[in-house]
Order: sequence, then C-alpha cells, then structure tokens
Amino acid sequence: MTTSYGSRLAATMSRRLGRECVYTPSARLALYLALRRWCRPGERVLMSPVNDDVILFVVLAAGLRPVTAPVSAWDGNIDPAAVPESTWRNVDAVLTTNLYGMPDRVAELRLRCEKLGIPLFEDAAHAIGTRVDGQPIGTFGKAAVFSLSKHVASTAGGFLAVEDARTRRELETLRDELLAPRRLHDDLTATLRPLARSTVRGLHLVRPVWRTLQRLGLLERDDYRMALRAPQLSECTREAPSLAAYEPWVRVDLHGFRSRHGALVRGQLELRMAALDGNLTRREAGVSLLADTPWASPALRDRVADTGPLPLFRAPLLVHDRDALIDRLVSHGVVSGYVYDPPLDDYAGAEFVEPSPDPSAARWFASHVLPADPLVARKIARALTKERTTPASWQAQSQAQPETQPQAQRADAD
Ligand SMILES: Cc1ncc(COP(=O)(O)O)c(C=O)c1O
Repeated sequence: MTTSYGSRLAATMSRRLGRECVYTPSARLALYLALRRWCRPGERVLMSPVNDDVILFVVLAAGLRPVTAPVSAWDGNIDPAAVPESTWRNVDAVLTTNLYGMPDRVAELRLRCEKLGIPLFEDAAHAIGTRVDGQPIGTFGKAAVFSLSKHVASTAGGFLAVEDARTRRELETLRDELLAPRRLHDDLTATLRPLARSTVRGLHLVRPVWRTLQRLGLLERDDYRMALRAPQLSECTREAPSLAAYEPWVRVDLHGFRSRHGALVRGQLELRMAALDGNLTRREAGVSLLADTPWASPALRDRVADTGPLPLFRAPLLVHDRDALIDRLVSHGVVSGYVYDPPLDDYAGAEFVEPSPDPSAARWFASHVLPADPLVARKIARALTKERTTPASWQAQSQAQPETQPQAQRADAD
C-alpha cells in the first residue's frame, strides 16, 4: 500500500482535530483545493475584508467573486447579523477568518449555510488551538485550512481538514496534481529560515535586521498590502480558475507555497508539531496578560473573562495612532506583522471585490488593531506603557466625528 505525501503529519493533525486531514505545503494551497472542490467558477464567496490579501488572490485564482461581509468592530470577524438578507440569498459559500485566533461566529454561520445549502469554509490559519464550546475551530464547516507557519515558527506546512476519508483521498489526488516538483533551494529556505529567525530573536538583533531588510527592499511589501497591479490582475481573469496565472500574487511571503518539500522539511515539521502544545500553553499565558491591559479589544477581554485564555496567534489590541506606534515599537525590538489594512474591498476595488454594504467597522478595526504576539506579551506591554499608548474605542469613535476616513485605493506601484 502506498502512503500519501505528508501522511504522517496529516495523521498527527487528524488525531488533534478529529477530522480527516490532507497535508499541504501552505494554508493558501489548502484553501485553493477546497474552493476548487466545492465551488464552480463564477460563484460568490462571502468573506471578511480584514484578512491577508493572499487569501483574496486565492479566491480570485479559483475563479470566484469575493463578496465583502460587514464585520464586528470588536474582533474583525464576519458579523452575520449585519449581512443583508439580499446578500445571503446571493452567495454560494462562506469563508471565515478566525482573525488572530479569535473565533468566528461559527454556530450562526453554520446554521445559515445549512439552511441555504451552501458550504462553510473555515480559515483556521490563525486558530489551531481555538475552541468554541469545547469544539475545535476547523470542525464546524465543510472544510478548514490550517497554517503551521503561524504556530510553530516554521516557514512551510498546512492542512486541509475535511469530513470523510473518501473526500480526503480525492483532495490528495487534486493536491498532487498542483504540487510543484521539489527544489533543493525551497527545502533549504523552509528549513533554515526559522532557525535564522530564532537566532535573530535570541541575539536581540530584531531591530537592526528588520531595518536592514526594509532598506534593502527585501520585504515583499512596501506597505501592509502588496501592490495590486490591477491591469495585470484583470488580464488573469480570463484564465481563472488557474493557480499558475495568479501565482505572482498568491506566492507573496511564501514562494514555496506549492513546493513538494522533501523529508528534511517534513521531518522538521514533525518535530515542531510535537512542540505545539507547549507553544499553545505559552500563548495562553501571554493572552491572559494582554487581556488584562487597557489596550485589549473588548472581544478579547470578554472571552478571556468568560472562558479563560485562548492560545491565540496574536492578541488584538486596539490603539490610537497605530501606524506611528508600529514604527516606534521596532526600537523596542517588537516587529508587528499581520496587519490587514486597508480592508480588502477598499484595497482592491469593485472590479475585483464586491464592496461591503457597511464598511465602517472594518475600516475602523483594520486601522486601530495592533496584533500582539502573546509569546512576547510582557515585552509588548512594557513597550506600550513606555510609549504612553492610548487605547482606542469603537464606541467612543462611533459617537464622535468619524476619525477614520476611507483610505483611498492604493495607487498601483507599477
Ligand atoms: C488569515 C490567514 N489565512 C491564511 C493564510 C495563509 O497561510 P499560509 O502562509 O500557510 O499559506 C494567512 C497567512 O498569513 C493568513 O493570515
């Protein structure tokens, strides 16, 4: 009997989750597989605009139309009650975000999807340890995607979780067709990058290294969002569904997203997965500390008070003058990633994304959230105190004059 590619890793994840899992080199490839399996080109997917732009490009690559959902200003996830009935009637699938590991309103979304007879996809890239009423995120929908790079400091690895073994086998075949042949360079990058990163952290070199990368133009983004390159993106529409056509966008930050990594990388991932529970416990401790600070988002504070700390990927803090603060935090050795600003509908425009009927909460949340790594919670809390950071409040904001103007759509870089 032949074993499928990455089956040992998949078996480990299946045991954790209680669902059949397919190993993939990235969450983005896992999502592409799910969308191709359950959606037909031209269909419409309801999703939050506060998500990685890479996810938008995966949806487009699958030949689908992203439809922007209104979100909650407490956590940036879809607000099901604010989605107009006319929108519900016109979507063919729903994609959650579980932003920073804070759970989506999955029970409501599942009920809605069941009633409408459409699939619910869970983006659990940030939420490998999150549970709702004891049930793991990633087991509520038709399929869920996980990203190992968010949780065990690797630069490769993901899973697609599905309901049964037959579907899993079908998706393994689809995955194998999309995997790019193994390249030693990709394997070395995936293996060495995390080591290099922990060395930098260990030696307290974050600040100079980050500034140098920025100066040398080695970061793939000048801003929180990658350059849209609208004319080229328009050209691709004719070829969708096609991963190859959209690869220049989909591969950003992870060029090996579809590489068939060898045993070296997978062996390292197995070791890292064995350390996952310890990592999640340390995250809970950091979340507990951050939830108790004046900058904690109300969603974070309430959830920790209700159910105890969650092992979040990032703790959502809400602060004034966020962008200037992020810059100053580098001097404290804190590099903040995973800021998804502006919201995807503002970023990409109506040609590529159906705009939200009420974009205000998404704009406010995206421009005020500071995603704080709970593994360095103490350092962040100290830095925010030293910087005399003012907490931001949506309530205060919505009662006063709007402070956040819609961001102009980005000028194309080329
Ligand atoms: C919410 C979310 N989903 C999916 C992804 C993609 O994960 P991967 O890098 O493993 O493809 C990311 C990447 O940052 C993300 O932030």
